[in-house]
Amino acid sequence: AAAPAPAAKEELLVGTEPSFAPFEFPEKDSKEFTGFDMDLIRAIAKEMGYKKCTIKNMGFDALIPAINAGNIDVSIAGFSITEERKKQVIFSQPYYKSGLAFVVRKDVNDVKKFEDLKGKTIAVQLGTTGALYGEKLKDKGSVVKTFNTSDLACMELKNKGADAVISDLPVLQYFLKNGGSEYAKLAGEPLTAEDYGIVISKKNPELAKGIDKALDALKKNGTYDKLYEKWFGS
Ligand code: ARG
Repeated sequence: AAAPAPAAKEELLVGTEPSFAPFEFPEKDSKEFTGFDMDLIRAIAKEMGYKKCTIKNMGFDALIPAINAGNIDVSIAGFSITEERKKQVIFSQPYYKSGLAFVVRKDVNDVKKFEDLKGKTIAVQLGTTGALYGEKLKDKGSVVKTFNTSDLACMELKNKGADAVISDLPVLQYFLKNGGSEYAKLAGEPLTAEDYGIVISKKNPELAKGIDKALDALKKNGTYDKLYEKWFGS
């Protein structure tokens, strides 16, 4: 007789910080979150046989602590894979190539490269690689303002409380395309290359393996490409 099908797992509990379009952001007229990461993790949960994929909204700097406290199973939040974070958690295989860049206010005309940000006011999101990168400017007479969400950092630019925002290039591009270009523009070259990974607790290496296996399957069966095209196709 055929082996019985493995029992369906109940629920995958996912944490994210949803101010990061097009990766995670509130869906219009709905209580749900949408974006590339959201579609991807739902597809992964389905592929792994979970009946439910529940997404919790948390502060970006609260995600790794929540993973390690066991309050959530995984986090997908445009997390860049870094050596520092690898000391605390497991990352899945990379699922998206990203990197840091910066925008300045449209009326700021003396910033052509990163070094020109000295003496300027820069807005960043707490706990991000962009915030860390911005610290390089602190001893150059710049003011770095830290915000809880990526949206608030961009708002500060709009309100002229900041001259520049350092964030992930695809997020800045989406922001410019969706109204931001009225008051902001990209400046300089991209600052870094960073890969996104899904975050899993070191106490749960089996779950990490399962996520990687599901990612392999979704890359193979065309689901990954379809989602990529949906969110990043021209
Ligand atoms: N990639 C950057 C990092 O890992 C920013 C991620 C911010 N994500 C978010 N959902 N707000 O630090």
